[in-house]
Amino acid sequence: MKVLIINGSPKSKNSETLKLTKTFVSGMDVKAKEIDTINCDIRPCLGCYKCWKKESRKCCVNDDMHKILRKMKDSDVIIWSTPLFCYSVPSTMKALLDRMTSLLAPEIVELSDGSKSYPAIDAFNAKHVLISGSPLPEADNCFDAIKFQFKHMFGEDIEMILCSENKLFNITGAQTVANEYLKTIEKAGKEFVEFGHILRETHEKLAEPMLPTDIYIESVNSNVTPNSDTDN
Ligand SMILES: Cc1cc2nc3c(=O)[nH]c(=O)nc-3n(C[C@H](O)[C@H](O)[C@H](O)COP(=O)(O)O)c2cc1C
Repeated sequence: MKVLIINGSPKSKNSETLKLTKTFVSGMDVKAKEIDTINCDIRPCLGCYKCWKKESRKCCVNDDMHKILRKMKDSDVIIWSTPLFCYSVPSTMKALLDRMTSLLAPEIVELSDGSKSYPAIDAFNAKHVLISGSPLPEADNCFDAIKFQFKHMFGEDIEMILCSENKLFNITGAQTVANEYLKTIEKAGKEFVEFGHILRETHEKLAEPMLPTDIYIESVNSNVTPNSDTDN
């Protein structure tokens, strides 16, 4: 099984979200390739639609996106690993999503769910997984925009692990609950390979807050220490 992680965190390998993703992948028991969008040359879509007029569909912007699309097409599973930025994804991952416009057809059609849109003509065979993190407690509504975006781009059957309270992974004293959550993510990865999807009870467990809101806020706020202005 060819698995590709697309990591949108500007923190690259130090991303907290990537830790969750790596745990999911270890549950899948596979080796995954990784693209860190911050380290790639992905320039913005120019909105020129020249790609739609060419038989090759090739975008006129010459950068890493061509190689990235080839890797995506060659994958069985694509895992979108991203922190929540302004209710969506960081700008380098957004640039990548915009540049996927070259894969759409220019004629508007009615899709299977009744909505009208540009259909994907060069869709990947890959299954998609979205793993995202937010430091806010009970942040379910914070994920509304990203859920909408990814379901519309990659279909209703995309698997999603949306982790609120993600500051807990860095708080000494919260290790027991954090480790419990990671174990559940690992189980989700195993189920994804075994059944082709994450089981409902595992999703429900992942959606539960790791700590009651007031205790979470107290733990996070008591760990905030301001740096001096001379620090980078
Ligand atoms: C520019 C910026 C925008 C952010 N926007 C949101 C947001 O809309 N909602 C939210 O819950 N957290 C937001 N955050 C917090 C990030 O989600 C948090 O830092 C992230 O989970 C860290 O993950 P990472 O280590 O994988 O990069 C934002 C952070 C930054 C730097």
